[in-house]
Amino acid sequence: MSEETYALPSILQLTPLDPGYRADPHATLDPLRARCPVHRDETAGTFILTRYEDVRALVSDRTLWRDPINAEPAARLSRGLEAIPADVPRSEASSILTLDDPDHARIRQPLTQAFYARIARFKPDVERIIDQALEQIDPTKPFDLMSAFCVPVPIDVIAAILGVDHARLVEFRDWSEGLIQGLNPFRTPEQTAHMERSSAALTDYFARAIAERRAQPKDDLISDMTRLQTEGAPISDIELRINLTALLVGGNLTTTDLIGNAIRLLLLNPGELAKLRADPGLIGPAVEETLRYEPPVDVTGRIASRDMEISGCPIKPSQSFTVFLRAANRDPERFEDPHRFDISRPRHPHVAFGGGAHICIGAPLARLEAQTAILKVIARFPNLRLADPDAPAVWRTLPFFRGLERLDLLA
Ligand code: HEM
Repeated sequence: MSEETYALPSILQLTPLDPGYRADPHATLDPLRARCPVHRDETAGTFILTRYEDVRALVSDRTLWRDPINAEPAARLSRGLEAIPADVPRSEASSILTLDDPDHARIRQPLTQAFYARIARFKPDVERIIDQALEQIDPTKPFDLMSAFCVPVPIDVIAAILGVDHARLVEFRDWSEGLIQGLNPFRTPEQTAHMERSSAALTDYFARAIAERRAQPKDDLISDMTRLQTEGAPISDIELRINLTALLVGGNLTTTDLIGNAIRLLLLNPGELAKLRADPGLIGPAVEETLRYEPPVDVTGRIASRDMEISGCPIKPSQSFTVFLRAANRDPERFEDPHRFDISRPRHPHVAFGGGAHICIGAPLARLEAQTAILKVIARFPNLRLADPDAPAVWRTLPFFRGLERLDLLA
């Protein structure tokens, strides 16, 4: 295609709502990165970046903003569909995902302290939850690994860490699916209604749970956080509730997709699967290579806090950036033979978890879950294979996420 005939993809064509992108995002992202690595999408009101070097530099820059309130009115993608409430403190309207300092650091610090201490002690529970899920699978018939395993495991794990009642897990899964629609800028009225119902239910659930744990602590993250509050951590109950909800939602779909994407890639690449079976010590690199090759989250965002220039393109304060982590992870300038899935790549400096001040707080948990899940799945099913190796993958259509709707397997 000549320079003259190249048409920039619209923002919709950069989501799985577009069948071409859904089937193969890199058929769109490769030419975009090669021809126009920084461009402004006027409909979305954002600069779109695809080169590894630019993406890495932006997500690592702690002086940039994340809170949409700092974005220009034209930044429609960053600002979302609803008006930003002006009468509520930002930290009581948004999770750390879209807060700026000092609120971001004030809340993220105690949350990280309590969360990471729990994850460090949680390995046996992760193993137990995974074993129980695997025991439910009948290997004599074809089964869908997504619904049987990849969907329930992460929600059971995060719910157990948070101390959510086991009896309410089914409701939690539904609420989590509803809430994730908040990240879907193209959601339907039905999806919006589901989101609002789920948000109200979770607000009610966590408000009660926080009050109960303060009165009577248990061995869970909610109790850890109420204890830190008592010891002086400057975080309100509303802030705590919003950020516990963010952990529940953030820890759910993304990890589901990571496990599903990894198993599919290993089955499509029998040589890589054989390497892993022969040396389970390769599980760390196998998960990192999946995160590079097929990241569950396509994009993240930042907002310019000053005049900047990126690859010769001038940027003004309050202009928004949408950085394509997926495109950066397949940049041939950074990764040799980037479209090859190779679990023995020497290093994996991918950007699947973003970077800088906002780097994914759940990364250690996602890694622990995925590593444990993948090893246990391949150990339990020594003859695991795709039910129909010629069938095209069935991807979900949620914008900016990449995960399988189904993964039909034979054991
Ligand atoms: C494979 C799984 C996961 C992927 C690919 C993923 C990806 C991401 C990305 C790209 C960001 C934005 C980073 C940035 O802007 O620099 C993020 C932030 C975040 N993630 Fe994850 N995530 C995963 C798992 C989890 C889990 C397990 C949890 C919680 C249990 C979680 C909770 C969060 C939260 C709360 C933030 C906001 C952090 C902040 O802004 O300070 N994520 N994640």
